[in-house]
Formats: sequence, structure tokens, C-alpha cells
Amino acid sequence: SQSERGKVTWKAPSNIALVKYWGKKENQIPANPSLSFTLDTCSTKTTLSYIKHKGIEEAGFSFELFFEGEPKDDFRPKIELFFKRTEYYLPFLKDYHFKIETSNSFPHSSGIASSASGMAALSLCLMDLEKQLAPEMDTNFMYQKASFLARLGSGSACRSIEGDLIQWGAHSEVQGSSDLYGIPYPFEVHEVFKNYHDTILLVDKGKKQVSSTVGHNLMQGHPYAVQRFEQAHQNISKLKPIFADGSLEEFINIVESEALTLHAMMMTSDPYFVLMKPNTLEIINKIWEFRKKSKSHLCFTLDAGANVHVLYPEFEKEIVHQFIKNELIVFCEKEQYICDRIGFGAKK
Ligand code: PMV
Repeated sequence: SQSERGKVTWKAPSNIALVKYWGKKENQIPANPSLSFTLDTCSTKTTLSYIKHKGIEEAGFSFELFFEGEPKDDFRPKIELFFKRTEYYLPFLKDYHFKIETSNSFPHSSGIASSASGMAALSLCLMDLEKQLAPEMDTNFMYQKASFLARLGSGSACRSIEGDLIQWGAHSEVQGSSDLYGIPYPFEVHEVFKNYHDTILLVDKGKKQVSSTVGHNLMQGHPYAVQRFEQAHQNISKLKPIFADGSLEEFINIVESEALTLHAMMMTSDPYFVLMKPNTLEIINKIWEFRKKSKSHLCFTLDAGANVHVLYPEFEKEIVHQFIKNELIVFCEKEQYICDRIGFGAKK
């Protein structure tokens, strides 16, 4: 039968948080709700080949890993942990030998984390296999469970299954929101946010010194944790009318504050650390100067690293591109940047 052996391929996008997830509880439950734009260009493509074991079940998980065509054992512990966490929900895992082949659309070691897109793509491949074993499975359920599984691989990965605006984490005013998986934002969203751009400036392509796992854990007992988690809830409430009206000034205010707060949490944890680089700040200052001067609506956000995401609406594309080329590219490592935009989720 089809489920004896076969292969499936999924391509899942990266995402950029507007309201940041930073801090978690047991079982990858977020300490606060987060909200993100799904990206389009930055993605991971994963092919999962599977062969059913003959005879007795293997004791452990049986899998091989290839990254951009080469065997890659660095990722083994992460996948092993992912399989351990998801085994209960995917009881067929130990019945198969898997070959996992993955590649990223963005340059290798660009400082762009591939854990979100990678875990999302792998989760979709596994749900695809489950659907072959249980063909009556509903597509909505398949996506929701893929998000649930992706969360167990890397929290923010649960926001990389669908598009274009995704909320993860229970919030009293957002019906259907859950700590267990991401959901498409259920409210009205103004046209201006529908084709938003994200140009990612590669300030530092090195591996970051502090992993996000360590960072999340440092929010436990952090002196500002309670206020921070409360602020994330408030920002999600505030964004509701902003998304409906298209008020860009207010949008900018929340998005930039979220980015700086994320880094402020890092700078005030014990031990403290700084992931921004001098060029990160140069770019932020240039953006503020340009926004004042040009009255345009570009803004920045940051993830857990030095790279800067420049967000702007479609109708300001020309002026912002010019500005990026003329004034920001000098602050990028080897002048590298990636032009991305809001996207609509993973594809088979
Ligand atoms: O998914 P993780 O555990 O790598 O955490 C990602 C955290 C941030 O990127 C900094 C914020 C977010 O919400 O994506």
C-alpha cells in the first residue's frame, strides 16, 4: 500500500513576529500570545521519504538527515527531541525509517533562523503521512495539528503553517486563539496590510551567542516578566482597531516598541546579553531620520539576533527601496539583504 513506503515534500515559510513570543512554560506553552506576518520568499523545503520496518519494531527513532544534499548530523539532537515530544501524537513514528532532506531558500548561515520554517515543513510532511494512514482526515484538522506539532519543535514554527497574519497564544479578545497552535487572525484587516513588504538586512551572519531556548528560560524569574507578558496582551488588543483602520502610525509604534522590548528583556535578564550590533543601531537611527524627513511609513522589527527587518506598505515600495539601497546597505555584512513580503502559508 501507499503507506508502506513513499515520499512527500512540503515548503514552509519563515515568519516575523509583530508581537513577540519571549518566555515559555512547560511543553512549549508560550508565556504570552504573539502575532506574526507569514513570509513568502524565506522558506524551507523538506522531503520526507519513509519505509515501513519489516517485522519487529525498532527501539528508537530511525532516521537520516540531509541538508542541501549533504549528510548533516548537527540537527540530529533537535529532530530526536522533536520525535520524542511528538511520538504520543504520532504513534506511527517508530514503525518507519525516515530520510529527511531539507534545503533553505535563503543563504546558508545568513543569521536567519530556519527552525521555524524547518519544523513547520517537517510537521506538514508527517501530517501528510498521517493523512495517508487516515484518509478521512479533514484538511483544517491537518493544518491545525501540523501547527500543534511544529510548536513542539520550535515555538514560533507553529506560526509558519498558514498565512498571512497568525496569532499563537490564548488571548481573551481573540476567539479561537490557543496556546497549543497558531490560528489565522480572525478579524478584519485593512488592505494596506495585505501586501506588506519585509526587507531583511543581514547585519551579522554569524551564529548567535545565546540560543532562543536559553533566552526563553531566562524569562523565568525575570524582574520585568509579569509586566512584559501583560504588555503583549495589551498590544494584541491595541492592534485590533489598527488592523481594521489601517492606522500606520499606531502600527509602527507598537511594532518598534515590541522589537526594542524583546531586546530590553535580554539586556535585563540574569545573565544579561546583547544581540544587537553597532550596525543594528545605525540602521534604526537611519530609519527614524528618514521617516521624519520623508513622512513615509517604514518601520523596523528585530528577532533574536542583529539582523533588521524593514517593514513597509506596497505603495511606498519605490521610495523605501531607494532609501535602503542608498543608506542602509552599507551597514549589512557583504551588503547582503533579502527582499521578502507577506505570504500565504506552506505549500505541497
Ligand atoms: O521559536 P523560538 O523558540 O526560536 O523563539 C523565537 C522568538 C522570537 O523570534 C525572538 C520572537 C518570535 O515571536 O518569533
